[in-house]
Amino acid sequence: MTNDRPRVFVTRQIPAPALARLSAVADVDLWPGNLPPARSELERRVAGCAGLLSLLSDRIDGALLDRAGSSLRVISNYAVGVNNIDRVAARQRGIAVGNTPGALTDATADMAVLLLLAAARRFSEAILQVRQRLWRTWEPLGLLGRELRGRSLGIVGAGRIGEAVAERLHGGWQMQIHYTSRQAKPQWEQRFGARRMELDDLLCTSDFVSLHCDLNPSTHRMIDARRLSLMPLHAVLVNTSRGEVIDQAALYHALACGRLLAAGLDVTDPEPLPAESPLRSLPNCIIAPHIGSATVEARTAMAEIAVDNLLAGLEGRPLPHAVST
Ligand code: DGY
Repeated sequence: MTNDRPRVFVTRQIPAPALARLSAVADVDLWPGNLPPARSELERRVAGCAGLLSLLSDRIDGALLDRAGSSLRVISNYAVGVNNIDRVAARQRGIAVGNTPGALTDATADMAVLLLLAAARRFSEAILQVRQRLWRTWEPLGLLGRELRGRSLGIVGAGRIGEAVAERLHGGWQMQIHYTSRQAKPQWEQRFGARRMELDDLLCTSDFVSLHCDLNPSTHRMIDARRLSLMPLHAVLVNTSRGEVIDQAALYHALACGRLLAAGLDVTDPEPLPAESPLRSLPNCIIAPHIGSATVEARTAMAEIAVDNLLAGLEGRPLPHAVST
């Protein structure tokens, strides 16, 4: 008896209902580990597959696609960011690529607000003081942070997540919104009274800056020493996009010498951040392990979209959420 069910490799456990939907129509090879499969394992398992469900920590390049062979029709990334995939190589081989936009907008925007507040209010120093039994009394001048109300917020990258952050911080704290975008966003101007600016101007004039851009060659290390030096001394920088957007050595220097008040990072370069990274030791740098989308709601919705993309690609239909090159 022949088995004409397509074979797919799923590189990590994802929420069960979506996986069950996939297993109903395809032979699923599910990577059982919590850590990404080693490159050799990825190459071995993808060979002969029609579909691949990948994570942002799986590097999908031309060499891997060659190992997969001509059977591979679709790559569905379980993420909105697709910087781990060589999309040109995929297009050249006629392989569709999909992502999961929208599903994680609220979760990631909440994370950006959380980091902004936590960095501005020195929350990790405060928690550490209690843990280390250094809390002695109520101090009029102890652990003073900064308030958000009425201050300016620079949003770099005016996509869905940037907009959800503007909604929260303009609506809740009356922050004045500045933004960068290739195109003007009239709806941002109407809803938030936002001002579109060049990046350098935004950095000079924003008390808080939140990064929401894609990682691509033009944004790689975009926040470098020169740009950090444009920011006001009391500024707070938050990154929930990709670690590579910031030159981390320059950020370390800016935070260590008081050039910048604080930073809140949900993403680093690389991930995980090496144990010896000096950023880990700075009291004014809060680092989370890339948990922006880590809510039950977001991860469940991401799985459904990722499986919708995969099934469409297997059946030769256009992906509901296709990524262009
Ligand atoms: C994404 O989807 O790109 C996010 O970084 C995952 O949290």
